[in-house]
Order: sequence, then C-alpha cells, then structure tokens
Amino acid sequence: MSQLFSPTHLGSLQLPNRAVMAPMTRTRASLEGVQTPLAATYYAQRADAGLIISEAVAVSAQGHGYPAIPGLWNDAQQRSWVPVTDAVHRAGGRIAIQLFHTGRSGHSSVFGEIVAPSAIPIRSGEARNANFQSVPWETPRELATEEIPGIAQDFARAARRAIDAGADAVEIHGANSYLIDEFLRSGTNRRSDVYGQDRTRFLSEVVAAVADEIGAERTGVRLSPLLPWNDMGDVDPLDTFRRAARAIRGVAYLHLVEGGGAEAITPALAQAFGGPVIVNGGYDQARAEAALAAGASAVAFGVPYLANPDLLTRFRRNAPLNTPDPATFYGGNERGYTDYPALAVERAA
Ligand SMILES: Cc1cc2nc3c(=O)[nH]c(=O)nc-3n(C[C@H](O)[C@H](O)[C@H](O)COP(=O)(O)O)c2cc1C
Repeated sequence: MSQLFSPTHLGSLQLPNRAVMAPMTRTRASLEGVQTPLAATYYAQRADAGLIISEAVAVSAQGHGYPAIPGLWNDAQQRSWVPVTDAVHRAGGRIAIQLFHTGRSGHSSVFGEIVAPSAIPIRSGEARNANFQSVPWETPRELATEEIPGIAQDFARAARRAIDAGADAVEIHGANSYLIDEFLRSGTNRRSDVYGQDRTRFLSEVVAAVADEIGAERTGVRLSPLLPWNDMGDVDPLDTFRRAARAIRGVAYLHLVEGGGAEAITPALAQAFGGPVIVNGGYDQARAEAALAAGASAVAFGVPYLANPDLLTRFRRNAPLNTPDPATFYGGNERGYTDYPALAVERAA
C-alpha cells in the first residue's frame, strides 16, 4: 500500500504527504543576497510537496561564499523572502528555509575571506568567484576558538529572520562540504581545541542556538555522512555520524543525503537519532515507497522536483516526468526555473 500520499508530522510540521522538495541552490538571487521575485512563483508551483526545503541561504556575509545565492543577515534579504513564504502558503504548501555557512567551499571575492576549522584547501575541482569564473580553491583561514560561538549565533539570528519572514521551519545545513560538515569530518577538522576533540560540538552549538531561538520542533538538520564531494572524508564515518545523530536528538527531523553509499548506514543513524528521518538521493516513486515501508518518515526529491512542479500529481497518475536541463540549474532567468510544464489541464480533467 502506498505511504507516499499519507500524512505525517515532523516536529510541529504537519505534512499532508511524505514527498519533500529537497533544497536546491539556483543562484538567481542578487549579488547582495536578495531573493528574486520569481522565486515566489518557482516555490509556489511546487507547493504540492508535503514540505518544501528552500535552497541554501547564507547566515552571514562571511558564510556567503557563492555568488547570487540568498542571504539572511539583513532586513532587505529578510523582506525578499516574505513574498515567497506567502505564495507557498497561499498555494497550500509549507516551507523550511535551509541555512548554511559555506566555510572553505566558497571564494573570498564574493563577500570576503574564506574560513574553516583547519587551513586545508579543497584540492579537486574549482571555486566560482564573484564574476562566476572558475578559479582555484583558496586556503581557508583557520577559525580561532573564540570566534566559533559567534557563528552559532549567526545561525540563530538568521533562523529568527527566516521565521519572521514567514517560514514554517528552518533546516540547518550540516551536509555537502560546508562549514558544519567540515567541523564534523576528520579530513577537514584537524583542530586540537574543544572543537577538534569533539567534532560534533559545533553542530551541537548551532542546533542549541537555533532551537533556543525558534524551538526544536521547527528545527531540522541535514547531514551527508559519506558524500565525498569537495574532498570530504572521515576516518570512521559511522562513528562520527552516529555521534552527530545523537547530538541533535530532539530536533524536528534528521534529513540524510545518501550519496556515496550512505543508505547502508541510514538505519544505524536513524536509531541513534530516534526521531523522524527524511531520506534523499536518487529516489524515484518505487524506491521512495520502499524507504517509507522500511521506516523513513518522508523522502526528499531534488532534480525530480526541479523539473516537475507537479511531481506528486505525476506520481499519483503514473504520468511521465519532464527531462531536467542541467544547463539551467544554476543562474539565469525563468528558463529552466519557472517554465517546466505541469501536466496539461485536459489530462487533469
Ligand atoms: C541544482 C542543485 C542544487 C543543489 N543545492 C543544494 C543546496 O542548496 N543544499 C543542499 O543541501 N543540497 C543541495 N543539492 C543536493 C540536493 O538537495 C539532493 O541532495 C541531490 O540533488 C540528490 O537528490 P535527487 O537525486 O533527488 O536529485 C542540490 C542539487 C542540485 C541538483
């Protein structure tokens, strides 16, 4: 029996179905980190999801290492999210805003210097500078111990702004090679202070600061235990992420990116966390049903939602999916953003 279309709840979020739109950076904001008005249309088109998770939003200028991503550290940025959350709510949806600090996975030409737990640069691939050119990665400055609590406070302030702008929840982005992930994994955290002795400490401090500000019941956390992208690695991922999952107990949900074969350790991490789990990474409808039957609370779809505004309707009717166009994933205008067609009206009749 299908579970994808059945309701569930994640903390205080009541989901009418278990299909989540995964967070996806679209680099269409202004260079000052102000969300585009078109984003309201884009997200509202996808409001059939049980929960929309927004593209990653920088909590501070220091954490804003990519050009044309949104930020949430000033009033203009906050105001630019109000039409988005309004449009999603009017269309019957719910939206969590994903918050991050890009750490070493950014470029200093965008908003200033690049910082990380340790002064270790990424060695594979290239950075994007403020002019969208590919350039070599830079060596980040190692954060001083006393600077780190202030970054947790940046997350809390941005979380407050997200809620004040109308978001239903906040997702702390602890995945995909950004600052929190860099603290978690041994390959990027060579510190000898308390943040190196316990690599989950920074994540714990961010979660505590955000939960204190907006409530644990509307705070989610995303982790990517085995994703190797941007030279990430850990000597003992199962141990590291089991400790991370335990450290965040009590938040609304744990969102696991299963790239790199991490689905093998999902059950262990779900058990360590003990609350609702969203799984993500290469899911189609059949695999999603299998994951739900195996105990996941919800399944997040990335590229399928990007290319299919009415993904859930298509699943329900067994209709074919649109073909995604990777050339328009990042940057540009409405093409590849708000112009993917929904099923024709006559088919809906
Ligand atoms: C264009 C694009 C942008 C993405 N940006 C983000 C992001 O901002 N935050 C994040 O946590 N993951 C991001 N991801 C990863 C997706 O959330 C998801 O983990 C990935 O696409 C795998 O899921 P899928 O197979 O359902 O697409 C992005 C993926 C794509 C394709």
